[in-house]
Amino acid sequence: MSAQPQADLRPSLRILPLHPDWLPQVLEIERRAYEFPWSENIFRDCIKAGYSAWVLSDAREAVNGYAFMSMAAGESHVLNLCVDDAYRQRGYGRLMLLHLMRIARAANMTIVLLEVRRSNKAALKLYESEGFQRLGLRKGYYPAKEGREDAFVLGYDIV
Ligand SMILES: CC(C)(COP(=O)(O)OP(=O)(O)OC[C@H]1O[C@@H](n2cnc3c(N)ncnc32)[C@H](O)[C@@H]1OP(=O)(O)O)[C@@H](O)C(=O)NCCC(=O)NCCS
Repeated sequence: MSAQPQADLRPSLRILPLHPDWLPQVLEIERRAYEFPWSENIFRDCIKAGYSAWVLSDAREAVNGYAFMSMAAGESHVLNLCVDDAYRQRGYGRLMLLHLMRIARAANMTIVLLEVRRSNKAALKLYESEGFQRLGLRKGYYPAKEGREDAFVLGYDIV
C-alpha cells in the first residue's frame, strides 16, 4: 500500500458504514457512473447479506462515493467502488480502496480480488498503483453496448 493517499482531503470527509438512508444518493451516483448500474435491489441484497459497505461523506452529509466488499473463506472481493463524477481525481477513490484493504487485512483475509472492465483505464491505474496484479481475464464478463466486454481479474495478496 502507498504510504499516504495524495488526496485533496477536506477534514470533514469521513468514511462511514453505509446506512440504508443513504441509498437514494448512492443510487443517483451509481446511475450517473455506470452504463449498466446496479439496481436498488442489488444494493439492498448486499446490505442484507452483511457485506462490508461504506460511504464517503462530507460535512453536509452528502455522499461523494461508496464501496462494497464481500469477505469469506479468507478471500475479500471488491464488488463496487465508485466516486461521484463531480468529485473524481481528488484521491477519494484511492482513499476508499485503501480503507477496504485495511478492513480486509484486519479481518485476516489473505487476498483482495476484483473484476474490472478491460476499458476502465482509470480504475486499472488506481488498482495497479496500489499493487494489484492481473491474475486473469474473464471473457465477456460484463454487458456492453455492443455485445459483451472482458474483465481483468485483479488480486492483491495480503502478507
Ligand atoms: C475508478 C474511480 C473509483 C477512481 O476514483 P477517483 O477518486 O477519481 O480516483 P483517485 O483520484 O483516487 O485517483 C487514484 C488513481 O487512479 C488513477 N486515475 C483516476 N482517474 C483517472 C483518469 N481519469 N484517467 C487515468 N487515471 C486515473 C490515477 O492513477 C490516480 O492516481 P494519481 O492521481 O496519483 O495519478 C472513479 O473513476 C469511478 O468512480 N469510476 C466509475 C466507477 C468505476 O468504474 N469503478 C471501478 C469499478 S472496478
